[in-house]
Amino acid sequence: MSNHQVPGWISARGRSLHGSLVVPGDKSISHRAIMLAAIADGVSRIDGFLEGADTLATAAAFAAMGVRIEAPDSAVRIVHGVGVDGLQRPVAELECGNAGTAMRLLTGLLAGQSFDATLVGDASLSRRPMQRVIDPLRAMGARIQSDHGLPPLRITGGASLEAIDYVLPVASAQVKSALLLAGLYANGETRIREPQPTRDYSERMLQAFGAQLDFAPGHAQLRGRQRLRATNVSVPADFSSAAFFIVAATLVPGSDIRLERVGINPRRTGLLAVLRLMGADIRVENTIVPGGEAVADLVVRHAPLRGIDVPAVHVADMIDEFPVLFVAAACATGQTRITGASELRVKESDRIATMSAGLRALGIRVDESDDGATIHGGRLRGGTVDSHGDHRVAMAFAVAGQCADDGVQIGDVANVATSFPGFEALAMRAGFSLQPA
Ligand code: S3P
Repeated sequence: MSNHQVPGWISARGRSLHGSLVVPGDKSISHRAIMLAAIADGVSRIDGFLEGADTLATAAAFAAMGVRIEAPDSAVRIVHGVGVDGLQRPVAELECGNAGTAMRLLTGLLAGQSFDATLVGDASLSRRPMQRVIDPLRAMGARIQSDHGLPPLRITGGASLEAIDYVLPVASAQVKSALLLAGLYANGETRIREPQPTRDYSERMLQAFGAQLDFAPGHAQLRGRQRLRATNVSVPADFSSAAFFIVAATLVPGSDIRLERVGINPRRTGLLAVLRLMGADIRVENTIVPGGEAVADLVVRHAPLRGIDVPAVHVADMIDEFPVLFVAAACATGQTRITGASELRVKESDRIATMSAGLRALGIRVDESDDGATIHGGRLRGGTVDSHGDHRVAMAFAVAGQCADDGVQIGDVANVATSFPGFEALAMRAGFSLQPA
């Protein structure tokens, strides 16, 4: 038996949720800020940086390629950019840990370097599909080796990249971003079209770093061989982290919370539209656009929810919020039907399977399909659920515990630190009852 302690939680009904909460910085934006600052000319300052395991892996990868990154404060990084051609060969494999964003975006960036590099990940990442980045990058001339399209990925340097015109087979901001990063090193103009628009952080941030590109929802176009200019980045609070508190406050009677300065890019906030269709009371206040990304305070009050058919148009805009939507649906009256979400099967866990199994263990009927599930709202009993090491599944079941008749015991929660360090403390301050198990 392994002597490795896998910490867990018991989440049980606490108080109603109150107060003003600040959740940590956006994970997607933090990854991109480090990457672009590293290959820019000059020194960039990143404020609001997410100091989570995923984004620390990205920072460590660039440090291993010769980029000096200072951390004068936990949420600040000063990145001494080395220019587009200034990265150095890493002496060891680059460890991406649990981070799909790190691995897929780095694959695109490394495809254009003069040196060889190898990307590795943890057990979960080593099961996630990489062929979706390998295929189009190879079409650009990249040399990438992998067994069955899975990590590790060995990228041979010195390839001469040519721009491509590519229609993504799946809606994926990670694949789009990998191609844009490779496109920076390619001859010609890289053009990307998406089946549904996905988060446009790479496009916006490339522009902030002085790159010339055209983009619109579902489309991006970038001329290769451009240089980037250092800039300062202000990272908003992560909507996906706020989502756990949005749902918890909606479900727990008497709750009234404010989530401060949350990123509200429309490609991320599909959950707001869906929860409102279900009857939620969420107000968006004090919207400002401090650094190219809109942020706002979200004021959430308890409201009873009713089940709906989740409109397919919102799926890509809430792709990371399905675990907690499953919990909202379990507590709604009637059925909630999710379709068109087969991508959930290739996240940090198979989120359709892990959420369905967990809710069933808590007494909820769930009918799974290939691309979604029908959740029959009902009464959550207590019980034991397995997060399968998936940070968002663990936090979604912590929310479930706040509405369950008896405690919900959640195993394997260590990976919560990948995206939301300090979740337990903030949740307890807001009103959760959450104990180590
Ligand atoms: C991300 C894109 C999404 C999302 C992930 C972060 C990004 O993944 O699920 O958490 O930062 O670009 P896909 O591109 O696989 O949809």
